[in-house]
Amino acid sequence: MPSDDANAVKHRIFELRNALHRHNHLYYIKDNPEISDAEYDRMLEELRTLEIQHPDLASPDSPTARVGASPVQDGLETVRRDIPMLSINNAFSEQDIIEFDNRVKRFLKTDDPITYIAEPKFDGIAVELVYENGGLTLGTTRGDGVTGEVITQNIKTIRTVPLRLQESTDTSVPAYIAVRGEVIMPHDGFERLNEYRLENGESLFANARNAAAGSLRQLDPGITASRPLKLFAYGIGRFSDADQVATQHEILQLLEQLGFNVNGLVRYDLGISEVIDFYKQLTEKRSSLPYDIDGMVVKVDRLSLQEELGTTSRSPRWAIAYKFAAVQETTTVVAIEVQVGRTGALTPVAHLAPVNIGGVTVSRATLHNEDEVARKDVRTGDTVLVQRAGDVIPEVVKVIESRRTGDEISFRMPAACPVCGSTTGRIETEKVTRCMNAGCPAQVRERLKHFAAKGAFDIEGLGDKLMTQLLEKGLIHSYADIFTLQREDLENLDRMGPKSAENLLSAIKNSKTISFGAFLYALGIRHVGEHMAKVLASAYPDIDRLFNVEEDELSRIDGIGPVAAASIRQFFVNPENREIIQALLQNGVTVVYPSQTENTAVKSPLAGKSFVLTGSLEHFTRSAAKERIEAAGGRVTGSVSTKTDFVVAGENPGSKLDKARNLGVTVLDEAAFMQLMAS
Ligand code: IVH
Repeated sequence: MPSDDANAVKHRIFELRNALHRHNHLYYIKDNPEISDAEYDRMLEELRTLEIQHPDLASPDSPTARVGASPVQDGLETVRRDIPMLSINNAFSEQDIIEFDNRVKRFLKTDDPITYIAEPKFDGIAVELVYENGGLTLGTTRGDGVTGEVITQNIKTIRTVPLRLQESTDTSVPAYIAVRGEVIMPHDGFERLNEYRLENGESLFANARNAAAGSLRQLDPGITASRPLKLFAYGIGRFSDADQVATQHEILQLLEQLGFNVNGLVRYDLGISEVIDFYKQLTEKRSSLPYDIDGMVVKVDRLSLQEELGTTSRSPRWAIAYKFAAVQETTTVVAIEVQVGRTGALTPVAHLAPVNIGGVTVSRATLHNEDEVARKDVRTGDTVLVQRAGDVIPEVVKVIESRRTGDEISFRMPAACPVCGSTTGRIETEKVTRCMNAGCPAQVRERLKHFAAKGAFDIEGLGDKLMTQLLEKGLIHSYADIFTLQREDLENLDRMGPKSAENLLSAIKNSKTISFGAFLYALGIRHVGEHMAKVLASAYPDIDRLFNVEEDELSRIDGIGPVAAASIRQFFVNPENREIIQALLQNGVTVVYPSQTENTAVKSPLAGKSFVLTGSLEHFTRSAAKERIEAAGGRVTGSVSTKTDFVVAGENPGSKLDKARNLGVTVLDEAAFMQLMAS
């Protein structure tokens, strides 16, 4: 007769299996998880332990029996691969890593130190790309490891995926190679995508990983094409020239030579204590990276040793994922405030009791819109689960209902704008309530901030606080006023010394020459994000052609839908907007049109050259320097290889500088770089 204990275990196993199946479905099929990855991992670990202790209760369809994810979205074709894409064991502590190292040595029957390579663990979607005789013939998701979903057409829309392998003196193109990597969505793209969905009344993606998954597993590649996805290549499956590579780091070098985007944060030649040091560095870097990573993958570098170590049914013995601590914490909602955005959208924001999440103090989290507040039923006084990832604004994941006391206060959208007091309204098809007064001071400030932000005029130092001061002191009223600011105007502002005034003026001056795409984006036309602005810029020779453009002409352009077309037309026929543009041009803004860059690209000494940037430059932000190089026909890549032409090294350069010196790549300081551009 089973004891109560045995019954309790059985019940718990049953409960865990059901919950894990449900969360698997929410995560992989719906791209809409309800719990954190850490919570999922904990449940899975508990189930695994119980099943090991009670082998009689094991079951072939338990979630622990899976190699990886659940595959197959309705409608996507599937394919079986001969070398499965395995999953990987997790480590959560230094102790776990030391045990991993010991296991490896025990298995190899050696006391000699093992050489490891450590790579960021990208938090995206694992894919495999098959190239036959240099051409991309098949793209699949990892699926359950053995069976993947065919997403060839979708994969082809990602710009960092080479459609043909690059030939070079160092490498010939292999007859067959299956390249493995992770498709991710960078933070800026993810934020913009959600912003756009918010404006259009579509449901929001919970995080960048879900957005990447949802974008990739589309039946319509056109949708994938419109999403800002990126590939990091990190491994290979079947390879016809396997004898050409002896280590994982050689695989990465090969992938880079073949034209893939390989992450620059990889470190090789590490002993186990260096692995632990690098983990600490990576933990610190994590929040400043423009994409999500959820840990570090540690691999035995030598492939012959990998082979000797082999795999268990689920995962290889030669690799481990050293995961970061959770980036979710619980705290309480002190108040729910409403902010007014650049388009007048009212956004509820939760003010939180300050809480440390992965090393950063968080005291505010976005609640997106009225419907989201209602869906999550967030009330003032609630205890909530909050998550942050990289630079993305922290958000409330869910309410911990068991902590409710009954004193919580529900949220209601105000009937008047909290900034200017004008009436607010909500168009039925949208989820957003808006302040209807275009002159609302909050709207004006946010439009100006957008204008000066990254991707637009990119004026370093002109952020929230300074913009607010400039407006309050009446020093600027509209975009064009930025370009007539004088030293005297700036020197009297709070926290502005002569040096920072100087820096700001030079940043403003440098921003005056701007690509057509960035200029269009800066104008803040509703429904025109950074990507669409580039599409528009490449479809028209200059801005004059847009002044009288018809809606149906715009709709015929690939990537521009009817809503955006109407909005663009409306913007350009409005005489006020024409005046705004005229004023900018009069104040010295020079728009560089694509046809012009093509011409200059031929003449420029930067044309066709490959650049790597490291350290901080005095006269440019990273993205401004990148834009200048690209405008002159050069390329900017993330890591140094023998094919890099120049490494531009600013203040506090990183290991890229060492690598450049080792490889004999030409290193330019900022002055030499500026001279090269001017020549
Ligand atoms: S190697 C056995 N390297 O982690 C090792 N995986 O593998 C096979 N992942 O969903 C994978 N970053 O997509 C490897 N630098 C990296 C990775 C990485 C992320 C993902 C991979 C898979 C999971 C487990």
